[in-house]
Amino acid sequence: MNTLKVLKLIDNDIYKELCFHFDKIPNKKFYNKLVRKYTRLTKNRFLNVMIRFEYIHYTFAYIRYRLIKEMVKFLKNKKVIEVGCGTGLWYKYLQYQGVNIKAIDNYSIDYKFRFKANGIINKNAIKYIKKHKNSYDVILMIWPPYDHDFAYNIWKNMKKGTYLLYIGEGYDGACANDKFFNAVEKYEINNKYIQNMQKYFVTFMGMYDDVYLFKKK
Ligand SMILES: C[S@@+](CC[C@H](N)C(=O)[O-])C[C@H]1O[C@@H](n2cnc3c(N)ncnc32)[C@H](O)[C@@H]1O
Repeated sequence: MNTLKVLKLIDNDIYKELCFHFDKIPNKKFYNKLVRKYTRLTKNRFLNVMIRFEYIHYTFAYIRYRLIKEMVKFLKNKKVIEVGCGTGLWYKYLQYQGVNIKAIDNYSIDYKFRFKANGIINKNAIKYIKKHKNSYDVILMIWPPYDHDFAYNIWKNMKKGTYLLYIGEGYDGACANDKFFNAVEKYEINNKYIQNMQKYFVTFMGMYDDVYLFKKK
């Protein structure tokens, strides 16, 4: 995906949607700046990296309206907890689309996020899901900390029969650790919901993240 395409997607999907859904639009200045600054410099890989570098102050994974729409199809009528939600952009976006979702982050690692959405539960997500076993059907986890047991501990403490909707890189990528990927590997689900989510998932040049679904047994 080249820079122009990424910017077009940003422009068409997320910017308009966010303007529509958020009372206070944290992204408006950001998007205007990006679109103005980078649209004519499309072939420069370095600029693509720069765009992502700016983007991760809002969220690590590329958020798209069409992807959100597919996620909603799977998540509707389910109780969802997003763990390690960062700014809460995905949480708010899904909530505005009618998903029953809570979001947790204890900001134990400083990623220099540019804002925090209202309503985020400031707690340790591992302890929270251990304690509230009946309050979720799906755990949403997007780009958990790299080289860290967080993702593994979330999976380990999830209740049997619940789902993990994971967005991030895989083995040897920049998310979680081998312990997590070894643990979830056998539990991957491949249904029409996840296939459609994958169809609409896009990422930045040089990144290898995707969306995956696992079911705890
Ligand atoms: C790489 S950031 C990703 C944030 C967000 N999901 C995104 O995609 O932008 C990982 C997040 O996990 C959070 N985190 C790490 N350990 C945590 C814990 N024990 N409980 C809750 N959040 C935690 C960090 O504070 C951080 O916001």
